[in-house]
Amino acid sequence: MRNKLPGSITILLLLLLSTASQAEEVIFDSGYSEVMQNNVSNMQDILFGIMVEDYKQVENIAEDIAYQPGPDLEKRLALLQKLEMEAVTFKLHEDKVRQNALKLMKAAEKKDRLEVLEKFSTLATSCTECHIGYREKVRSFQKGR
Ligand code: HEC
Repeated sequence: MRNKLPGSITILLLLLLSTASQAEEVIFDSGYSEVMQNNVSNMQDILFGIMVEDYKQVENIAEDIAYQPGPDLEKRLALLQKLEMEAVTFKLHEDKVRQNALKLMKAAEKKDRLEVLEKFSTLATSCTECHIGYREKVRSFQKGR
């Protein structure tokens, strides 16, 4: 009886403990995780659009990818600072995705099925190219390694 805590207090303690351990784990928040979740769901929606030949959908979402604002300025600057010299190539990868998304948007505007498929593939490649160079690196900052 004495050892039992009321339910609400237990929940409060659990909440406090979980935020504390999270704070320890995430030393650095790149701000990119959320942006990337959005990217991948947009890519899925584009693929769906291609499958059902809804080129308007493909066009609109490709435009969203091209003009997505990215993480807020403060987080963005903090990451670029951590990347030092590599910030330049990181930004080049971002530009490449933007350009490829615009090319996909134009192909969808023309409703050119083959060109849409080709540009979608090029866009996906440019996502992967940045990941090869940077995803693990950015994550390593978060673990404070
Ligand atoms: C400029 C570099 C760059 C480009 C371009 C890029 N990514 Fe990423 N991506 C990252 C980084 C860095 C992470 C790790 C972020 C983190 O964990 O904080 C990541 C993580 C992810 C993740 C995992 C999300 C998570 O919750 O950790 C997905 C999914 C993803 N990216 C999809 C995409 C897609 C789709 C595109 C293309 C439309 C894309 N990315 C383009 C750098 C990039």
